[in-house]
Amino acid sequence: MPLNGSSVVVTGAGAGIGRATALRLAAAGARVVVSDVSETSGQATVDLITEAGGTAYNVPADVSREDDVQALFFRTVELVGGLDLAVNNAGIAHHPGDLHELPVSAWDLVMGVDLRGTFLCMRAELGLMVAAGHGSIVNMASNAGVKNAPDMAAYTAAKHGVVGLTKNAALQYARRNIRINAVCPGTVLTPGLAGYPEEIRAQWADMIPMGRTGTPEEIAGSVAFLLSDEAAFITGHELLIDGGLMYQ
Ligand SMILES: NC(=O)c1ccc[n+]([C@@H]2O[C@H](COP(=O)([O-])OP(=O)(O)OC[C@H]3O[C@@H](n4cnc5c(N)ncnc54)[C@H](O)[C@@H]3O)[C@@H](O)[C@H]2O)c1
Repeated sequence: MPLNGSSVVVTGAGAGIGRATALRLAAAGARVVVSDVSETSGQATVDLITEAGGTAYNVPADVSREDDVQALFFRTVELVGGLDLAVNNAGIAHHPGDLHELPVSAWDLVMGVDLRGTFLCMRAELGLMVAAGHGSIVNMASNAGVKNAPDMAAYTAAKHGVVGLTKNAALQYARRNIRINAVCPGTVLTPGLAGYPEEIRAQWADMIPMGRTGTPEEIAGSVAFLLSDEAAFITGHELLIDGGLMYQ
């Protein structure tokens, strides 16, 4: 599915699913603005894309900060001339535990990055897309956006919020040639999770009907599809990518 010449911003693109998505979109011909709170991680992704013959720019931003997000999209327009596509991927989780013991700071942090960050980015992206008369956005939700993530109150609430924002905006902009969808991965072996002990990772895999965890590249492929014209009649959808976990 070619994305030749399209301009796209991917947040949280310095690692894991975001990096794999940035690489996938660049391989499909998009000009990719790689954004991450870590400038070094973002640059490493840009280097991988450039080495593979693609086009990418590093524009660091903390998605929970309004001034960072404004600067990100201002710089995006300077670098690539506008915005056709966007992937709001940046997100963090928190340590599992009872809600009554969840530190307020952990709630604020997760809500700030996962929900407020998605809102701030969508706000900027939709402004540019309305002006351009077209656009396609994919928000990175989670299985936790449609069901419970055990003992993770803030993460579950934030990702349900991301799915809600996706549906609300999809209908608001449906007649303005802008599509907005969400993907809901189950357990995906990103560098963060790869650090867990082998027996814990084996337990995760065992809980999944397909008997294995997902890969960042499998999520990236679905994101590329939803962004592309091959998904031209799909909006407001939350796509489960979880090896069957939701249905067991
Ligand atoms: N890995 C999974 O199993 C899984 C499952 C479901 C959903 N997700 C979601 O996918 C997304 C990516 O997850 P991942 O596993 O690839 O994570 P990761 O930790 O491997 O990478 C996340 C990247 O986001 C960056 N980041 C963190 N806070 C940021 C901020 N405030 N602003 C900008 N960038 C920031 C980090 O620096 C990092 O490079 C998240 O939204 C996560 O909730 C992951």
